[in-house]
Amino acid sequence: MQDVTKLETELLARIEAAATLDALEAERVGALGRKGRITELMKGLGGMEAEARKSFAAELNRTKDRVADALATRKEALAAKALDARLAGERIDITLPPAPEPQGRIHPVSQVIDEITEIFAAMGFTIAEGPDIEDDFHNFTALNIPPDHPARQMHDTFYLPEKPDGSRLLLRTHTSPVQIRSMQAGPPPHRIVVPGRTYRIDSDATHTPMFHQIEGLVIDRDIHMGHLKGTLAEFCRAFFEVERVNMRFRPSYFPFTEPSAEVDIGCDRSGGQIRIGEGSDWLEILGCGMVHPKVLEAVGIDPNEWQGFAWGMGIDRIAMLKYGIPDLRAFFDSDLRWLRHYGFQALDLPRLGEGLSR
Ligand code: DAH
Repeated sequence: MQDVTKLETELLARIEAAATLDALEAERVGALGRKGRITELMKGLGGMEAEARKSFAAELNRTKDRVADALATRKEALAAKALDARLAGERIDITLPPAPEPQGRIHPVSQVIDEITEIFAAMGFTIAEGPDIEDDFHNFTALNIPPDHPARQMHDTFYLPEKPDGSRLLLRTHTSPVQIRSMQAGPPPHRIVVPGRTYRIDSDATHTPMFHQIEGLVIDRDIHMGHLKGTLAEFCRAFFEVERVNMRFRPSYFPFTEPSAEVDIGCDRSGGQIRIGEGSDWLEILGCGMVHPKVLEAVGIDPNEWQGFAWGMGIDRIAMLKYGIPDLRAFFDSDLRWLRHYGFQALDLPRLGEGLSR
């Protein structure tokens, strides 16, 4: 009897002293496990006299219950302690400031290129690119601008030094040579937009020697001017993010299109601000037309089987228009203060479904 009381005191003390759930489990096994100390005493009951066995068994069972209770109580306390420790370890200080905003900004020209290509991608166009340094054939001749053509003078071309054979490479004066390169690269149909840098000897308040254009080209069967008008009308509505944009197709001349047109969009200049869409003023934004049969012939496409339309648009000016940027030259000054003011967040990718410029 004495032994059981002593054992109980010892076991309860050890349980109380167990510092972890693992240590407590070891105590449980040591007391109540298959070879535990209480279990061993239970096994000895069989060899005892009936009277002695009865009272010893009763005593042993009470001890066993108290040890089991102590184990359960201690387990609960240790589990609560472990949870507290874990919660303390995983604590987040929500009063800390969030990660700093990225410092870089997307240039408005890049942003507008992303917006425009997003709109045309949704219409099924793919993006094509070509070299900034071009040859005479792609920039002029294949576009129906032969060597003596007056349009060559209008382009104020930057030429590279003459090569031994007398030819000179040049900085492309427009993105139109990529029409030629794309049609040479594979058979029709074609449906491409071409954003990129272009160069002309021209520098004043509204012209910079390097500027940006985006070209479009569609070549397919049974294409007509209605497709051209519909495509550009849809583009203007999406790009300027207004319900309605009045458009005016003015007859014009480009060597590589026939017929050719320049497109003006309606705007309102009253109140010192330009509002695009409706109003009594017009603003020219692009040149376009039906691809000239001679251009198709230059790249080996049969104009009786295939037709198409094309357009070319200056990007810098419509970026200024859309985002109210007053001075073109500031675009290329690399002034950080300007970029922080007019630039865009790096993760603000234009998405048609979410509102282009948000
Ligand atoms: N390449 C012309 C320019 O730079 C713009 C242009 C006009 C492109 C009509 C075209 C077009 O594709 O069809 O002035």
